[in-house]
Amino acid sequence: MHGADPRLVLGLHRSRHDRGLLTAALDLGVTALDTAAPYLGFRSHMALSEMAADLLPKFTLSTKVGFFPGAGGVEHSLDPGRLRLAVEEAARELGREPDTVLLHNPERSLTGLSLADDRALFGGACAALAEAARDGLCQDWGVASWDPRLLSRARVEDLPSPDVLMVRAGFLVGIDLLDLVAVLREVWKVGETWGMSPFGGGHGKVWEEFDPRPFLRPHHGALSRIQAAFRTSFHLPSATAVAVGTDDSGHLAELVQALSAEVDTDAVSQYLHALHSRRQN
Ligand SMILES: NC(=O)c1ccc[n+]([C@@H]2O[C@H](COP(=O)([O-])OP(=O)(O)OC[C@H]3O[C@@H](n4cnc5c(N)ncnc54)[C@H](OP(=O)(O)O)[C@@H]3O)[C@@H](O)[C@H]2O)c1
Repeated sequence: MHGADPRLVLGLHRSRHDRGLLTAALDLGVTALDTAAPYLGFRSHMALSEMAADLLPKFTLSTKVGFFPGAGGVEHSLDPGRLRLAVEEAARELGREPDTVLLHNPERSLTGLSLADDRALFGGACAALAEAARDGLCQDWGVASWDPRLLSRARVEDLPSPDVLMVRAGFLVGIDLLDLVAVLREVWKVGETWGMSPFGGGHGKVWEEFDPRPFLRPHHGALSRIQAAFRTSFHLPSATAVAVGTDDSGHLAELVQALSAEVDTDAVSQYLHALHSRRQN
């Protein structure tokens, strides 16, 4: 997918689910939304269909399953039957099939103790989502992982290859995770990589101390630090799409503007090289 236009996905993790923001997004040419069953206290799907049923067909829509309402509030499960029901419920609540369904933070149910047990559990969950896609409940399936360390080579090899792997992106991601993702997507024959949470949920102060604008080609000097951080996140790791959260249409417009900037990939390579060297010392 190298060379494809960078795609901004409006992530609804921390969103108020405001119709005005969805309208503004469409006006800005943002046509991808990412949500998850547990967002907005397990009401995200319903809220979207109640307030924006007419807008939803204009977006490509990804959602995630794996968290369920439980005794203590929220519980995680990789049970194939529960996942299948959750995919069906997502389509029902949204009033349409999602384009992509992602397994939400599978590491929460993996123990790291027994490779064989983890592999069987994770493999069953992947197979359930792959089957849901084959049955037309979604077009694509994938995995969204905040901490993919337990998704090691041994745990994914020969499991169904996901269409999408969604992982943290940007300057706040460490070199160990970037390296792990590079191995994972190779071994697992991942279709597309999507980035998420390029600001780590909103660490504004980082950009006061660190200026990422040198990672853009010089004629984009007019962009802000946060715009440069966002644009460069498509290369850390290299991703076709990045899910970013905002409740502010002005902020969204800034992020859209940043998409047209060109990243200095030599600078990114030097940065990665420097991180590798630092680790070896
Ligand atoms: N495990 C998972 O599956 C997982 C976990 C986390 C996130 N995600 C996905 O990634 C998406 C984004 O993650 P996130 O919202 O946690 O983190 P994020 O995108 O890194 O950060 C969102 C924060 O950045 C601020 N922001 C955005 N644009 C800005 C701008 N132009 N100027 C200043 N501030 C700006 C927002 O504030 P304002 O509202 O003020 O703009 C918000 O506080 C989620 O919605 C979800 O789709 C997935």
